[in-house]
Amino acid sequence: MPTLNWIGKEGETLDRHDRWLSMMYPRLVLLKQFLREDGAIFISIDDNEVATLRLLMDEIFGAQNFVATVMWQKVYSPKNSARHLSEDHDYIVIYAAKADSWKPNLLPRTDQQNAAYKNPDKDPRGVWKTSDLSARNYYSAGTYSITCPSGRVIDAPPKGMYWRVSKEKFEELDKDNRIWWGKDGSAIPQIKRFLHEVKDGRVPQTMWFYGEVGHTQEGKKELLELVDFDTSDDVFITPKPTRLIQRILQIATDKDSIVLDSFAGSGTTGHAVLKQNNEDGGARRFIQVEMDPGIAKTVTAGRMSRVVTGYTNAKGQAIDGLGAGFQFCRLSAEPLFDAEGQIRRDVTFAQLAEFVWFAETGTGLSSAKRGKADSPLLGVHEGRAIYLLYNGILKDRSVAGGNVLTGPVFDVLPRFAGPKVIYAAANRMGGRAVREGITFKQTPYALEV
Ligand SMILES: C[S@@+](CC[C@H](N)C(=O)[O-])C[C@H]1O[C@@H](n2cnc3c(N)ncnc32)[C@H](O)[C@@H]1O
Repeated sequence: MPTLNWIGKEGETLDRHDRWLSMMYPRLVLLKQFLREDGAIFISIDDNEVATLRLLMDEIFGAQNFVATVMWQKVYSPKNSARHLSEDHDYIVIYAAKADSWKPNLLPRTDQQNAAYKNPDKDPRGVWKTSDLSARNYYSAGTYSITCPSGRVIDAPPKGMYWRVSKEKFEELDKDNRIWWGKDGSAIPQIKRFLHEVKDGRVPQTMWFYGEVGHTQEGKKELLELVDFDTSDDVFITPKPTRLIQRILQIATDKDSIVLDSFAGSGTTGHAVLKQNNEDGGARRFIQVEMDPGIAKTVTAGRMSRVVTGYTNAKGQAIDGLGAGFQFCRLSAEPLFDAEGQIRRDVTFAQLAEFVWFAETGTGLSSAKRGKADSPLLGVHEGRAIYLLYNGILKDRSVAGGNVLTGPVFDVLPRFAGPKVIYAAANRMGGRAVREGITFKQTPYALEV
């Protein structure tokens, strides 16, 4: 049961943050249900709502599943018209389904990083770079004196520092030509780290600079090359660059992952998935959801078509398609819930029953019952019976036409000896509910729409 009052009372004026919370809460709850056990969610957000989002995510995903907040440098030049400070960045807030077992992939090493490795002594093991032999961490065996090949004696590590390895280990490293004494053999010794022995990649960091992942202008340019907009007002203000989404894919996906973007907008995510597949031979698939039918058709799907099949750009150059393909589906059913999260008046018992069953069990209702459920007992799943009281299913035997769980209503429900989950508008059974093994869930809030 959510503890957050996300709907607000009737007649109450919601402020901007409340409205944003009301909009996001049910969507995030639903997204959590879609996440694989080893999955993670990346949310791009600006400073207006990042604090609110963190609280919301702590509530829904659990504070223990917070992974990191990335700062993305989204612009390359300051806005002189800024009222206060010119904003350079957005955030990407990351939560995992289970942060303690979630592991990001390493990122490919950059040429710049590799360029730091050299081979001045022509070591047959290849290029290397040095790392300090001394560190600040106290190490009782790290205070010995060292004699350099040139004969210079170094009495002890630099003040306040300790050699990282014991004297025995140091001698072993030196024997294996893993100590660098400088060109004339008298420098403070350093340890040689060979490129072929370092991790095959770099640990992702939390500062993402546009040089590596692109900025909003780059995102806009990519989009304008792929979609013709009628007026410049129609152009998305802040489409993401594909390189930014590719960075997320590199960190958080396997080559066969399914990537969901429920706020698809200009379709950067689908584009980035196909690009990443092309670059690393992956077979990732994507699902993009866009609420606005006009945007979905002309922008999201329009872009994807050109990305897949190829196009001619403004300079008349033919750009090859990335291949693969996609299916465009339109949801034609009316939503079950209105904008405030209340069940819409014309929703039937059978329709809500399907939703309740899915929310409770994560599975579909049996085909016999699909669209035809007509008993408050929807079925038994993993030893628990699932009931729904809604829309007068009990033919008005009770308070508010059978939507409220009372003692007399319970007495006429189909019996089940084991634990029961009952969805209803309210619970008036008091302590008896516990004695009868009932877990009560209040509609519509518990439906986690
Ligand atoms: C800020 S844009 C996304 C930008 C996107 N990342 C890009 O690179 O273009 C947000 C989009 O989400 C859509 N949207 C908002 N609420 C939605 C919902 N509940 N379901 C699906 N799409 C939604 C909006 O119509 C809008 O196109």
